[in-house]
Amino acid sequence: MEQLKTFQEANKQRFLDELLSLLRIPSVSADSDFKGDVLKTAEFIKDKLIEAGADNVEVCPTDGYPIVYADKIIDPALPTVCVYGHYDVQPPDPLELWESGPFDPVIKKTQLHPQGAIFARGSCDDKGQMYMHVKAFESMMASNSLPCNVKFMIEGEEEVGSPSLGPFIKANAEKFSCDVILVSDTGIIANDTPSVTSGLRGLSYVEVEVIGPNRDLHSGIYGGAVANPINVLAKMIASMQDENGHITIDGFYDDVLKVSDQERIEMNKAPFSLDDFKAHLDIDEVHGEKGYTTLERTSIRPTLDVNGIWGGYIGEGAKTVLPSKAYAKISMRLVPNQGSEKITELFQKHFEKIAPPSVKVKVTPHHGGEPVLTPTDGIAYQAADKAYQATFGKKAIPQRSGGSIPIVAMFEEVLGVKTILMGFGLDSDAIHSPNEHFGLFNYYKGIETIPYFFKYFTELSENMN
Ligand code: BES
Ligand code: MN
Ligand code: MN
Repeated sequence: MEQLKTFQEANKQRFLDELLSLLRIPSVSADSDFKGDVLKTAEFIKDKLIEAGADNVEVCPTDGYPIVYADKIIDPALPTVCVYGHYDVQPPDPLELWESGPFDPVIKKTQLHPQGAIFARGSCDDKGQMYMHVKAFESMMASNSLPCNVKFMIEGEEEVGSPSLGPFIKANAEKFSCDVILVSDTGIIANDTPSVTSGLRGLSYVEVEVIGPNRDLHSGIYGGAVANPINVLAKMIASMQDENGHITIDGFYDDVLKVSDQERIEMNKAPFSLDDFKAHLDIDEVHGEKGYTTLERTSIRPTLDVNGIWGGYIGEGAKTVLPSKAYAKISMRLVPNQGSEKITELFQKHFEKIAPPSVKVKVTPHHGGEPVLTPTDGIAYQAADKAYQATFGKKAIPQRSGGSIPIVAMFEEVLGVKTILMGFGLDSDAIHSPNEHFGLFNYYKGIETIPYFFKYFTELSENMN
């Protein structure tokens, strides 16, 4: 590992400069205006994988954005690690809340990142974390220390639900055959507290429409006698959680895997400061399901949240109108063993059932994803733990995360392969928000830690044989 370290040290500045160039390409997958840039990003990664020494580097076309594939097979008898990441990013809006341009990366110090952090959309989610793998691979190649085979699967549609990757891996299962999938698209607890993400929530996402009169009405002439779709929608949404924060949809909790008291005690030992949590968000009190801690509410419990709500008049001044329609986008985060299709159906039935006869309703499902638990007892977990220990000097803590990476469940289902979620971001890095950032410490620690995962995973695999 000495030679590898020397190489990384000598190329530190270039590793950073390349990431900054990658961050300057606005690869927003949700907005077709950015199509050319998303495609350019795939080409950028392809070029860098070639330069790093990968073989069979391909930008594989799909019905949506392409998947970048690459591999380095040094010996078919050795294990194969497949690295998954995504090169697309969330839309940057609201733009006015960014202190610097979202695609014009700048480095600034923060309280949690005293060595500086890169501020840009995608810096943490996931370009910065994905690119750590490209640089870790390059370092292993340059120092002749790649211990096993490696494949890369880098997609451009994660932020829109990975519609093309599922069919692509189904059709090309052999191409992605491997022993483990390695993902850096989650986080660690703190820069002095490494953790391995041991589970992800799933997602059901629906759009609802409440339809009242056939046109917007004068709220004086008709108000009081005709149902107002916005009032109705607000009431329907409010009724979907009771006073204890329980979701009232019939059957919603039926498949929730019970977490034992012992496991709950363990998970609440993870370092977490409620005061810091509140201070960071400028809130005076937290809120959630009764009987569960904040750590539990954001990991082992399902949720229902309105992501957006609109209708009626929202322009300047006042317009007296009884609107014809009201809309909302609603997401439900799911936990093992809830199924996203089933939950979406339960939601639809419930929403139709609670609608008063004075309105009509329509529910349109969007993309979903299944929750996952990743094993904390196999060699992949041990390898990740040992890798973090090697570079952080501390054992990793397993922790379930509240976010979703829907494709991870498909890896298991389609490829029959487990995933190890070895992230390096912090929850406070503002992913999906204005001023997203990624610590320089975290970027370099990732590049340093990943080769250890390869080393230990290969060694532990050999011991098994
Ligand atoms: N990288 C995130 C997921 C994540 C972040 C998991 C932090 C754990 C910790 C991913 O890019 C993401 O944003 N996923 C979406 C789901 C997707 C279907 C749009 C999410 O969780 O909202
Ligand atoms: Mn991500
Ligand atoms: Mn994301």
